[in-house]
Amino acid sequence: MSNKKILILPGDYIGPEIMAEAVKVLELLRSEGEALEWSFGHLGGAAYDAEGHPYPASTQKAAREADAILLGAVGGPKYDELPRDVRPERGLLGIRKDLGLFANLRPALAFDELADASSLKREVIEGLDILILRELTGDIYFGQPRGRRTTADGHAEGFDTMHYSAPEIERIGRVAFEAARKRNKRVCSVDKENVLETSRLWREVMIGVAKDYPDVELSHMYVDNAAMQLVRRPKQFDVIVTGNIFGDILSDEASMLCGSIGLLPSASLDVNNKGMYEPIHGSAPDIAGQGKANPIATILSVGMMFKYSFDRGDIATRIDDAVKQVLKDGKRTGDIAAPGETVLGTQAMGDAIVEALRRK
Ligand code: NAD
Ligand code: IPM
Ligand code: MN
Repeated sequence: MSNKKILILPGDYIGPEIMAEAVKVLELLRSEGEALEWSFGHLGGAAYDAEGHPYPASTQKAAREADAILLGAVGGPKYDELPRDVRPERGLLGIRKDLGLFANLRPALAFDELADASSLKREVIEGLDILILRELTGDIYFGQPRGRRTTADGHAEGFDTMHYSAPEIERIGRVAFEAARKRNKRVCSVDKENVLETSRLWREVMIGVAKDYPDVELSHMYVDNAAMQLVRRPKQFDVIVTGNIFGDILSDEASMLCGSIGLLPSASLDVNNKGMYEPIHGSAPDIAGQGKANPIATILSVGMMFKYSFDRGDIATRIDDAVKQVLKDGKRTGDIAAPGETVLGTQAMGDAIVEALRRK
């Protein structure tokens, strides 16, 4: 059997720190005999520094050739003043679009051991297991026209276009219903249908898709209400399907139900389940270089890679179990530690997870 080829893009600020821990997981699995190989590439600010572009041709080629991609995080203050077209974030959007990674799975799973790290009461979040499915290659992120102009009376003006086509909505809808079939058979489609034309179309198309899935219950919710319901009674949700911008915001919100944004992994998949895997958080410039970043979201993203791209749910489960084990053992990075608890650094947390994995 030929090796699975993984392209690793550490990115910026805490990106390389958290990725180093994910690589330890890959090293362990390879030492056990898994047929894996990996190479490193540049994306984001690191790519701009090395090659003058946030998604350079070398990365494009390597990304197309890889079986799966692991990404740390990109962006940060060093790059904030660059022209829009070469900002790190543009590199990230570029690779998502280029590879057609339209389906972004962001599971929000509350570990019982961390119930007290959440800012909500234990009973509100205990047992929480929701899947936020975010459409990733459309919406106001990519709609045209966008830009700047000067109005007739001399004011600067910025504009973006929210845009969705029916096929784009339909394909993410199908992913949502398929996922719900394997879960609790409920899809909540989140939109702003009371205001936006894109959302009116979104809702119509979702209702159409639902006809093919009579065993799955479809409900609709406005995004403002969804933001409120997520903190009021998050366990009412099973699968949430939503557009690019709403999904970006709701998933960061959902991370705090679980205790920290440092915990949530993601998979971004194309039509063939080729994927890029990354934590949902950013490059955390405020803690970069201090060994404080929580590597769990990145390590869980490795698990998602095995499950979705390599059809190895068994390894994903082992990784999930190893993370649960270290949390059960009371190991905590600063973002999930209670006052007075011993705090582990990034590397110590990574080592603890690898050690637990070795024994699983
Ligand atoms: P962020 O997610 O980087 O950080 C928000 C807060 O969460 C910070 O206080 C940070 O310290 C904390 N945090 C994030 N990850 C953590 C981890 N693993 N462990 C412990 N704490 C963690 O969001 P931001 O500050 O709004 O953005 C910083 C930069 O990251 C920006 O340039 C932004 O564009 C970029 N960004 C990139 C991605 C990505 O690469 N996918 C995602 C979001 C933001
Ligand atoms: C994310 C990030 C990105 C997004 C940014 C950095 C472009 O916030 O991956 O959630 O908005 O998609
Ligand atoms: Mn985001």
